[in-house]
Amino acid sequence: MTELRPATSDAIELAAAIVRAGGLVAFPTETVYGLGADAASAKAVARIFEAKQRALNDPLIVHVEPDRWSTVADAGRLTPDQRTRVDRLAKAFWPGPLTLVLPKRAHIPALLSAGLDTVAVRVPDHPIAQALIARSGCAIAAPSANRFGHVSPTTAAHVLADLNGRIDWVLDGGPTRIGVESTVLSLLHDPPRVLRPGGVTLEMLRLAGIAAVAQQATTHTGDAQPAPGMLASHYAPRAAVEILADIDQLLARHEAHLNAGRRCGLLITNTQHAQCAGRHPQFVMGESIDDIARALYAGLRALDDSGVDVILVTQVQPDGLGLAIRDRLARAAARRADG
Ligand code: TXA
Ligand code: MG
Repeated sequence: MTELRPATSDAIELAAAIVRAGGLVAFPTETVYGLGADAASAKAVARIFEAKQRALNDPLIVHVEPDRWSTVADAGRLTPDQRTRVDRLAKAFWPGPLTLVLPKRAHIPALLSAGLDTVAVRVPDHPIAQALIARSGCAIAAPSANRFGHVSPTTAAHVLADLNGRIDWVLDGGPTRIGVESTVLSLLHDPPRVLRPGGVTLEMLRLAGIAAVAQQATTHTGDAQPAPGMLASHYAPRAAVEILADIDQLLARHEAHLNAGRRCGLLITNTQHAQCAGRHPQFVMGESIDDIARALYAGLRALDDSGVDVILVTQVQPDGLGLAIRDRLARAAARRADG
């Protein structure tokens, strides 16, 4: 059994002791729930891979307190230009949903970074995450707290649905604020390369003086890749996902599926809701791009749980968080296309 605890001060203290002892604690961040363990312990890190059934070629993110990135990343191996970029990005976005890929320090286990010479670091902007790191006294390795390849969790209930019995504790801090994962940015590329779009957008990076470029998604498997999390079949529900250009196409597709005897779930906005009266099941995400990011994974999970064969959703604009949403929708849709 996994203990589910409201994240009171006492519970965080006990959770920190579990982390220090090599255990696994899921906790909220501003993006999604993470599955945390002592980043310096190869044994604890191995337990994360085992609990998630995560492929060993997919490296983890290490979460640290503000101004502590150089306890896990090797500042001595940065060029002066790279160092300037780290300082600028840390000032602009930490704490926050930005993960930097930097040279790894030797005491971080090779397993954590899938054998790469680099480590991904971020400072989460969430009081519970920060308190857990501070009280455990450890840098905390934490991938999203879901089964490997599945949709990331944005509530404690999502974590339990995937990992009950496989981890020690879940600290419940309510639904997460942003809803999609952090942006993974490699500073070892010139110009810096976005390996995964997320909570910090390209526009925000540009405003901070960082001209980053987006990396095309890959479908590599096997050896560790620059961003093995970019596997096409990540972030997928069980049901097939179809992305339509607009609501008229979505409604037409719905009719076609119903006529063929397939159960369909509609993942829609407030505005679209008015045109979807009488069509069930449906999950209404809100209206703005931020609303959609926050509700996306809960919607995919809820519709999946209702037993539909297909989930229909319309495409979003590629601005701001829209880029991250498009990326996750494409991956969710790729699952079935891959077979
Ligand atoms: O918002 C988030 O980032 C959440 C919360 C819990 O912090 N974490 C998260 O972790 O999404 P995970 O493991 O699900 O995704 C980590 C991503 C993967 O795409 C992985 O390939 C990439 O970070 N990554 C980790 N270490 C890397 C490295 N050394 N080089 C390149 N990519 C790396
Ligand atoms: Mg993940």
